[in-house]
Amino acid sequence: MPAAVRRDAFVRLAEVISALTYALDLTEGQRPGHTLRTALIAMRVGRELALDEQALAALYYAALLKDSGCSSNAARLSALFGSDDQRVKRDMRLVDWHDRWKLAMRTARNCGIGRNPVARLSHFLRIARTPSMTRDIIQTRCERGAQIALVLGFPLETSEAIGHVDEHWCGLGHPAGLAGDEIPLLSRILLLAQTVEVQWSEEGLTTAMAMARQRRGRWFEPRLVDLLTTWQGDHAWWRMLADDEALESRVLGLEPGSEPLQATDERVDRIAYAFSAVIDAKTPFTARHSTNVASFAVCIAGAMGADADTRRDLLRGGLLHDIGKLGVSNRILDKPGRLTDAELVEVRKHPRWSKDILGRVAAFHGFAAEASQHHERLDGTGYPWQLSASQLGPMARVLAVADVYEALTADRPYRAGLPVGSALDLMRRDRGTAFDPAVFDAAAVLAEQGTFAALADTGGTPFPDLHAMPARFAPVAAVA
Ligand SMILES: [Fe+2]
Ligand SMILES: [Fe+2]
Repeated sequence: MPAAVRRDAFVRLAEVISALTYALDLTEGQRPGHTLRTALIAMRVGRELALDEQALAALYYAALLKDSGCSSNAARLSALFGSDDQRVKRDMRLVDWHDRWKLAMRTARNCGIGRNPVARLSHFLRIARTPSMTRDIIQTRCERGAQIALVLGFPLETSEAIGHVDEHWCGLGHPAGLAGDEIPLLSRILLLAQTVEVQWSEEGLTTAMAMARQRRGRWFEPRLVDLLTTWQGDHAWWRMLADDEALESRVLGLEPGSEPLQATDERVDRIAYAFSAVIDAKTPFTARHSTNVASFAVCIAGAMGADADTRRDLLRGGLLHDIGKLGVSNRILDKPGRLTDAELVEVRKHPRWSKDILGRVAAFHGFAAEASQHHERLDGTGYPWQLSASQLGPMARVLAVADVYEALTADRPYRAGLPVGSALDLMRRDRGTAFDPAVFDAAAVLAEQGTFAALADTGGTPFPDLHAMPARFAPVAAVA
């Protein structure tokens, strides 16, 4: 296999994480850049409060990772509401939960979208009869996000800020119902920043400021609202916030500390593993798909004589090849039956999103396109680009084989994985039309030797703390 494109000697940690936050925005149904704008608002609050550099650094990374647990509740939310999880998440973020009437109305509006009135009502009643539902869903997201910050090596302060981001000043928030000063200061700042950003993005500055004042002393700490609302007339600053092109560079420019944090290769690998856990937590049907695909792909490449740089790119490409799936609704991903043509169109968008997201990370430029081509076929009938054999590089060919083999052999909640021989027989029919013959042959030898099964059993990750994270909530049965 040809050598990979050499990566930069130094990779900036904030640059990698900032770029990947677009995947989190996609999962949350937020306008692209939501996380970065939240970080800009939070950092201005932090600086005006004269927080020390250590607290600012903790706030900075907490803002970037605040939604890293977001995929872990998507399946549950989608099943409960019977609607697209991203749409529910976006819409429910706009409502003042303390107003039970408004909450009920907003919940009803999001139940069973596109379904008949009986189905909509049954979803609504199920939610109404489960008062702990909101807390459970938020708790999952917060705990998961807090864990991810820790395994990425950020301090406890960052992790705690994420873990309590939905606590409200009056004590009616989640997951712990903390009140006032019991809530970590960084969480108080993040809650105000993210809520203002959502309202500002959806309904403009005046509405966002009115919302902050209305919720002063209930959701938000009064002195933080008093500080933030003084910016209302700072039109230049809000125009800056609206400049999508310069968003990432502005966030990078705000990184606290005298020197930007550099990420070693090991740390970038860890980030890729952490985001693969975010991807795999999206749906109960893909427990270890990304880590397995990555380890199978690296193994195949090793057997074919690939060098260390190529194998490292394959590892990261394999871990992140399905990152675009974070933008696909769980209503479709978790559907038990056959997908409609319209649903297939939606699912088949995910490689384009993978390419867009990975292409934002300079350290991933060498493989962003090829990793996204894992559903292309040699005969040009794959998706989404229908590339021909001459356009498919070695990484795309290896990932295509690893991806299908993993999907066929992994156990799913609704069926056991195929035995090795059956999976290979099925794939052999497409040897030379879908799959590169040399790649398929190398993979078949490894599969028959039991190498892939052993890798899948260990989770294939060199980071046991990441592997040990609980995968997600158990899926919720769909409402008839
Ligand atoms: Fe895929
Ligand atoms: Fe995949």
